[in-house]
Amino acid sequence: MARYVVTSAWPYVNHVPHLGTLVGSLLSADIYARYLRLRGHDVVFVTGSDEHGTPIELEARRKGVEPRELTDAVHEYDVKLFNEYRLSFSLYSRTESPVHKDFVRGFMMKLYENGYIFSQKEVLPYCENDKMFLPDRFVEGTCPYCGYDKARGDQCDNCGRLLHPTELLNPRCALCGARPVFRETTHWFIDLTRVRDKLLKWLQEHRELPDNVKKYSVNWVQQGLKPRSVTRDTSWGIPAPFPGAEGKTIYVWFDALLGYVSTTKEYFLRKEGDGEKWKEYWFNPETRTLYFIGKDNIPFHAIILPAMFLATGDPYVLPWRISATEYLMYEGQQFSKSRRIGVWIDEALEIAPADYWRWVLARMRPETRDQNFTWKEFYRIVNSELNDDIGNYVNRVLSMVSRKLGSKVPQPGPLNASDEEVLGEAKRLAWKAVEELDKINIRRSTEHILELARLGNRYLNERQPWSLLKENPEEAGTVLWVGLYIAKMLAHLLAPYTPDAAERLWSMLGMDGSVHEAVWDEHLEKPPEPGSMIRDVEPLFKKLPPDFLERIDEILEEARRRANEKRPPILREYRVVE
Ligand code: MF3
Ligand code: ZN
Repeated sequence: MARYVVTSAWPYVNHVPHLGTLVGSLLSADIYARYLRLRGHDVVFVTGSDEHGTPIELEARRKGVEPRELTDAVHEYDVKLFNEYRLSFSLYSRTESPVHKDFVRGFMMKLYENGYIFSQKEVLPYCENDKMFLPDRFVEGTCPYCGYDKARGDQCDNCGRLLHPTELLNPRCALCGARPVFRETTHWFIDLTRVRDKLLKWLQEHRELPDNVKKYSVNWVQQGLKPRSVTRDTSWGIPAPFPGAEGKTIYVWFDALLGYVSTTKEYFLRKEGDGEKWKEYWFNPETRTLYFIGKDNIPFHAIILPAMFLATGDPYVLPWRISATEYLMYEGQQFSKSRRIGVWIDEALEIAPADYWRWVLARMRPETRDQNFTWKEFYRIVNSELNDDIGNYVNRVLSMVSRKLGSKVPQPGPLNASDEEVLGEAKRLAWKAVEELDKINIRRSTEHILELARLGNRYLNERQPWSLLKENPEEAGTVLWVGLYIAKMLAHLLAPYTPDAAERLWSMLGMDGSVHEAVWDEHLEKPPEPGSMIRDVEPLFKKLPPDFLERIDEILEEARRRANEKRPPILREYRVVE
C-alpha cells in the first residue's frame, strides 16, 4: 500500500465547466483516484474552485457584480454538479478558504525570506477610460509568437506561450477596447534561477513524466527561467504579504497552485483536527503526487510549482506524474463560452445520466492528440457499447438466472475446455484493463473492458445456456456461473468509470457491501458464490431513441433551457431580443 495525493486542475468559477474541462482534469483524476482506492492505496484526492484572478474579475465586471458574489454562486453550483457526476474528492475547497489564504501568504513569505522575491518598477498597460492597470486577461492583443489575435496579457491560448503584457502587439483593453497607455508601477518578482539546475535535473531524469510534458518543459527551462512577477494591481485576490506590498494581490497562479497543498492541510484539519498531518504527505519522499491537467497548464505544473517547492528549502515531494490531456473539440471546433460552442456539464446531465457521460468521455479522452466530440460518436458509444456490449450482456445472464434458476447462483459442474478458455481469457482481459489504467492509458483500459463484455456475449452465443437448460441443466448451470463470473469482473472494472451502474450491478449480483470497497487484488478474481441469490434484475443502461441524431438540435435546445432554469440567477442566459 502506497500513499498518494491525486489532484485535478482547479476549475475557474467564472462559469460552469464544459465537457472538455471535465474530461481533461476532473473526471480523469476521479477515475484514477477511484482506481487507486480500489487497489487498496491510501489516497487523498483534492482540488477546488479557482476564484481569484482576472478570469473571475472580468466576468464579474461584465455582469456588474462583486467577484465574490459570482464565485459564491458558481462554487456552490459546481459543488452540486460535481456530486452529481460522482467526483469523489476527499475535499473540494476554494481559494477563498481561510486555510488556503493563510497558507499562500506563509508560503510566499518563506520564499521572500529565502531571498527569492524582490521588488522592481515595471511599466504596464493602463486603461485611461477604466482608470486601472490591465493585468493578464484585462488586456488582449496579437501574440508575438504565433500571430493569434486574441492572446491575453499572461498567456496565448493558441500556442500556449506565457507572455508579458508588453509583448502583445496591438494591445487593447478587454473592458472597453481602448488602446492602453503604459504606466509605471512596482511589483514583486520571483527569481527562480537559483533552483534551475535542480529543476532541470529532475525534469530530465524523472521517468514518470510523459514526453509531451518533458520536451516542452526542458526546452523552456533551458531558455532561461526569467523572473516572473507574483503580484498584481487588483484588489480581488490574496493580499500580498511582502513588506511594502500593501494594496497588491498575489498573481492567481501562485495562489491556486498552492491549493493542492493547502487543501490537503484543510482536509486533515477538518477530518482529524490535525493541522500538521499534511506534511506526512507532502514532505514524504514516498508519497506519489499526481496532477491531472489540460496541456495549457503544463508550464505551471511541471516548472513553476516544482521550482516553488524547491525554493522553500522544505522537503516537498516533486510531482510523480503529470497527466496532461490535449483538447476536446466540439464537432470540429474549440469549445467557446462566448460563441456558445460546446456543451456545459449541467446541460449534459439533462441529456443523459452522469454514468453515461463518464463512460463516453473516458472513451474520448484526448490522450495523445486533440479529440473530436461528436453526437454521432456519443450515440454510438451509448447505444452500442454501454447498451449492446455491456448492458445487454449482464442482462442476458442475470435474467436467465432469475427466470430459470429462481435467482439462485448455480453450482458449476466440471468446466469443459471452452469454459476454461473463456475464463482464462476473461481474467487476462481484466488484468490488462487494470494494467493500462495503472499507466493512465484510460482509453486503452476501456477497450479491454469492452472486449471482456464482448467475450461474454460470444460465449453465451456459443454455449446457448437457454437450450442447455432443458437438455442438460447442470451444464447450463456451469455456463451461467461462468457468465456471472464475467459479469462480476465487469462490475469491478466499471467501478471507476460508471460508479452508479457498477454498484447497481454489484447489488443485482447479490454481492454484499459496496463494489467501491472491494479491493481488486483480493476480489477481482473471486468467483460468484453458488447458492447466493441475485437481486432485482433490471437493465443497467437505457438506449438513446433511434431518432436521437435527427433531433439533436431540438434535444440540445431543450436541455439548455432546462439547465438554464436550474442555474443560479447570476449564470442564467438572457436572450437578447432583437
Ligand atoms: N483555473 C486554471 C485553469 O482553468 C487551472 C488552475 S490549476 C491550479 O486553467 F493548479 F493552479 F490550481
Ligand atoms: Zn478600458
